[in-house]
Amino acid sequence: MTNAQSPLDPRQFRRALGNFACGVTIVTACDTTGRKAGVTANSFNSVSLDPPLILWSLDKRSSTWDIFQQASHFAVNILASSQIELSNHFARPQEDKFDGIEHQPGLGGAPVFPGCAGNFQCSTFQRIDAGDHWLIIGQVEQFEDFSQPPLVYHQGSYAMVLPHPRGRKPEVTEQNDSADLLHTRLGDNLFYLMIQAVSASHPRFVQQHLKLGMRNSESRLLLVLDSAPNAGIAELQQAAAIPARELADAMANLQTKGYLDIKGNQRWVTSAGHAKLEELWNMLHQAQDDIFAELSEGELEVFRKALKLVVSKR
Ligand SMILES: Cc1cc2nc3c(=O)[nH]c(=O)nc-3n(C[C@H](O)[C@H](O)[C@H](O)COP(=O)(O)O)c2cc1C
Repeated sequence: MTNAQSPLDPRQFRRALGNFACGVTIVTACDTTGRKAGVTANSFNSVSLDPPLILWSLDKRSSTWDIFQQASHFAVNILASSQIELSNHFARPQEDKFDGIEHQPGLGGAPVFPGCAGNFQCSTFQRIDAGDHWLIIGQVEQFEDFSQPPLVYHQGSYAMVLPHPRGRKPEVTEQNDSADLLHTRLGDNLFYLMIQAVSASHPRFVQQHLKLGMRNSESRLLLVLDSAPNAGIAELQQAAAIPARELADAMANLQTKGYLDIKGNQRWVTSAGHAKLEELWNMLHQAQDDIFAELSEGELEVFRKALKLVVSKR
């Protein structure tokens, strides 16, 4: 729908802006007298890499302006998908928004919340008078990246990220064409079938893992570490099928999420890690039951034997 009317209809303008899906943050600050401010904000965005700048905008009617104006720093807490209640809490004007809310002082005393996807702690770079909002630009002095699935806001509702099915969906006729290929010589070739089987089931697993707050590589690594906590790096790479450059990230993410403890050369899956493993195993059993429902236990045993044979010939 187009809108060529003048002046703009505020409701239609808001609705059109809502097409832009974005993350949700709580921006916080603390002034010299120790007063704290926190505002749920989806106006956050990146500005510059060098120097590292970010921005957000604050409604001029907000009771928190006084504090943001005086504070030397502010913190942008990027909310995780599990933090809708926190988002709603900081979107409501209240006497003391921080009462009963777990937080730690970051740079300049700006409150930082646990359980977020990440945070950016900034010194105030510039404040710009912009219509009915203040545009606040911050220079990032410190940041934390916890790689949690983010909370998303779209068309006035909370949402979650799901990976896009790669490329466009094949037309029905194309699907038939690819299914028809299974009746040609290719369909008899076990290597062709193995590759097709992995690519057919992969998107489903990516989605299921994200629902559990995990990346595919993290969950494979956790499953392997559960059986072989102190395996060497080369062994882990092979057993979890993770490229070298992703292994360190996946290991650090598991630690950050509290699923893995590492001291020196020793690693432990934590009790939170075991709880997550339980969820992963349930998901994997469910997926296996769905996909292989037509096969008898005997047929599945032959299938397992065939796959293990291929793996053993590495
Ligand atoms: C998802 C979401 C995004 C919001 N984004 C902003 C924003 O970018 N800037 C802003 O000033 N208010 C934003 N708000 C509204 C403020 O959070 C809210 O008006 C404010 O916290 C009210 O409390 P205050 O009077 O203490 O400022 C948003 C609210 C929600 C639910």
